[in-house]
Amino acid sequence: MTLDAYKNVTLNHHKNASYNEGAYPSSLDSVLSAKTIEDAYTTISSWKGYEATPLYHLHNLAREAGVADILYKHEGGRFGLGSFKALGGAYAVLRLLAEEVSKRTGKDISIADIQGGSYAKEVSEVTIVTATDGNHGRSVAWGCQSFGARCFIYMHAGVSKGRAKAVEDLGATVNWVDGNYDESVRQAAEDAENNGWFVVSDTSYEGYVNPPRNVMAGYTVMTNEIKEQLGSEPAPTHVFLQGGVGGLAGAMCTHLWQIFGENKPSFVIVEPDRADCLYQSGIKGEAVDVHITEETIMAGLSCGEVSNLGWEILKSGTADFLTISDDIVAPTMKLLANGSGNDVSFAAGESAVAGLAGALAALQDESIKEALGLDENSRILVFGTEGATDPAIYEELVGVAADSLAA
Ligand SMILES: Cc1ncc(COP(=O)(O)O)c(C=O)c1O
Repeated sequence: MTLDAYKNVTLNHHKNASYNEGAYPSSLDSVLSAKTIEDAYTTISSWKGYEATPLYHLHNLAREAGVADILYKHEGGRFGLGSFKALGGAYAVLRLLAEEVSKRTGKDISIADIQGGSYAKEVSEVTIVTATDGNHGRSVAWGCQSFGARCFIYMHAGVSKGRAKAVEDLGATVNWVDGNYDESVRQAAEDAENNGWFVVSDTSYEGYVNPPRNVMAGYTVMTNEIKEQLGSEPAPTHVFLQGGVGGLAGAMCTHLWQIFGENKPSFVIVEPDRADCLYQSGIKGEAVDVHITEETIMAGLSCGEVSNLGWEILKSGTADFLTISDDIVAPTMKLLANGSGNDVSFAAGESAVAGLAGALAALQDESIKEALGLDENSRILVFGTEGATDPAIYEELVGVAADSLAA
């Protein structure tokens, strides 16, 4: 195995001047409290088909990269939907249905009532919509199918047909939108407003917080599992987390901060340089939008607008921001498919590998490595957020079919 592909690549790094090195500030409870996180775990871990996803130690890769360990949380098998997003959208759909049916019936309807099918007729009269670049829409469509609501999923032209089909297979209707992801978000919101439908978005904006908060709460099932899986092992020193709108990164950051307090790992946000809204927000010291002119291969990360809730956490919770170019994505997918030497071999999608690619590239760049405080004692945690969610794209990039791999 050689890590030459990560040498001399284009990396941009920004150190967060507003980083809070201290203990978890309770002021962030307004974004995601321990109770909200616990409720999500209790509910989602009781769903049929629930299983903790694996946390792999990539020992061989760690040795080659010169660090103590690389931990990879592999989300490819989550609820059979291919990505961690299965945890968020479906859970937010459930909460929204309980709230809406309560309003319509004037009764206090619980999520257990909705899950048990007691209000199937009322639920079938609710229409839920969302914009997506694939994975979030699949989760929302799955939630609507499971609980019995109507569902429209908004996709922009850059979303692959394979990802659209995955959503249609779950009974949702796809509405295609001209423009990019951010425009599909706006179109979904406008149509919902005009038709009395409900948006379950993974991004929060002015005046819109509850569904994206529940989406983020759902994601923290992963950090709950990691806490269990680590047991008495040493805590990670660094987390390299890929960012789209920042919901995932915000959720992981806040929960790991709650778990480890001032001994929390150092957070590094990794984005495609073609969609670097969090990186630019870090430089500016406030949430800023970027205009996407060219789509990145990391489809799930192709977002130009930051989620308000995510930013609320990341503005002080992340130590560093990093951007990577598309050219290290396929080599990282191949590295994992080949078992990085002697480690386990598995299929990781284009957006899954961004955190790992960023970490490996940072380790090859002496000045960034030093700035991030990486050395031979570092234990790096990354989130492999999706499997081969589009098998055709996977095969084109990696050269082997995803289903030919063992794990
Ligand atoms: C596979 C994958 N990883 C990471 C992300 C980033 O999550 P967020 O948009 O919450 O930052 C996404 C978003 O769609 C995704 O699909």
